[in-house]
Amino acid sequence: MYIYYDSRTGNVERFIQKIKLQRDWHFVKISQDITPQGSGHLITYTTNFGDIPRTTFRFMEDFGEKIKSVSSSGNMNWGKSFGLAADKIAEQYHIPLLLKFELSGLPQDVQALINRIEEISK
Ligand SMILES: Cc1cc2nc3c(=O)[nH]c(=O)nc-3n(C[C@H](O)[C@H](O)[C@H](O)COP(=O)(O)O)c2cc1C
Repeated sequence: MYIYYDSRTGNVERFIQKIKLQRDWHFVKISQDITPQGSGHLITYTTNFGDIPRTTFRFMEDFGEKIKSVSSSGNMNWGKSFGLAADKIAEQYHIPLLLKFELSGLPQDVQALINRIEEISK
């Protein structure tokens, strides 16, 4: 299983570390240098009033066909823009939105995402 993730201030990175404790998956941080080795799932964050981070946007332009689901970290303080990057990506690429979570996520968020990824990978 491949997980492609984007993180600027470290919250998604911390969420990834919690999944790592439970699953022996491949975790790849998105940067300009990576080429996906296999299809997988995207975990990103939302920025600037509901925007997709530029790094995630470019990654999806190049490799979107390899991505089977999207999830986003966010902050509920942003109201209607909470986790909106995931809605936008899900709509544009016709993939399921599996989870929106706050900051680095609660234990139940980690468990929910693992369960949902495994469910749609069957
Ligand atoms: C400038 C700025 C804009 C943000 N805009 C949003 C937003 O529109 N919606 C949202 O849900 N969260 C927003 N956030 C919160 C981030 O998505 C949240 O902190 C996330 O956990 C960041 O992930 P990272 O630490 O892995 O980079 C914003 C944060 C910053 C600093």
